[in-house]
Amino acid sequence: MRMNGKVCVVTGGARGIGKEIVTKFANEGALVVFACDMNKEALDELEKEFKNVKGYILNVTDREGIKVFVEKVRAEYGRIDALVNNAGITRDALIQKMSEEDWDAVINVNLKGVFNMTQAIGPLMMETGSGSIVSISSVVGLDGNVGQTNYAATKGGVVAMTKTWSKEFARKGAKVRANAVAPGFVRTPMTDKVPEKILEDMKNKALLKRLGEAEDIANAVLFLSSEEASFVTGQVLRVDGGLVI
Ligand SMILES: NC(=O)c1ccc[n+]([C@@H]2O[C@H](COP(=O)([O-])OP(=O)(O)OC[C@H]3O[C@@H](n4cnc5c(N)ncnc54)[C@H](O)[C@@H]3O)[C@@H](O)[C@H]2O)c1
Repeated sequence: MRMNGKVCVVTGGARGIGKEIVTKFANEGALVVFACDMNKEALDELEKEFKNVKGYILNVTDREGIKVFVEKVRAEYGRIDALVNNAGITRDALIQKMSEEDWDAVINVNLKGVFNMTQAIGPLMMETGSGSIVSISSVVGLDGNVGQTNYAATKGGVVAMTKTWSKEFARKGAKVRANAVAPGFVRTPMTDKVPEKILEDMKNKALLKRLGEAEDIANAVLFLSSEEASFVTGQVLRVDGGLVI
């Protein structure tokens, strides 16, 4: 039971990769997993399935809502052991065609949302002396991708913030670790929008000749969030089937 007794928070936990992370944490003995998302129906389903999962309606751009949520968890449990910044969106277009609105939307959720959650929870982890923050980046944040200026900027930003937090949150003797996972192309509702030809191309470029599954990413997040990774911090783990070597 690799998450035994842990208090966990997963953003974007209602579907796709986030749902798989919530499922892993719940099955690995977490005391409670807060699945934070805006999709109430999907959260209700998760709550029905697992007695240690609590769905919580939270938009990661809502700083006031985040404050209320973290206070509630602190009052009830006194600590948060694992935060997974997973919520993310895409609004793809070539830079010539990218609207300011699409730029702002992606920055607000994928970059500022990660900042908002970590700013609210990281200090609590420091106070209690330990914790793990795992943020979902992307190979696009490391290598770039046509049509994803906004998304690539946020996912590169997640890496830079992760490295900064590994330094900031380990001060004063705190054992708070910060790591990122950079998935390749994974079959989820997010990639349903990507043309099949591009997905096929990605599959062929990967050394392992397949797309990722949500579980591939959740396994990496589980490792980094568990005590097995207690000497790992400030790292970016690529989980991409060997897309770029
Ligand atoms: N699928 C991929 O190929 C892939 C590759 C690399 C990285 N990622 C990253 O993995 C993460 C999960 O992606 P996915 O493919 O599971 O996506 P998805 O669209 O299937 O699921 C994302 C979830 O986040 C929630 N969400 C969106 N905006 C939110 C907000 N403002 N506040 C709270 N919740 C919000 C959605 O409701 C949804 O449940 C994202 O950060 C994504 O960028 C995905």
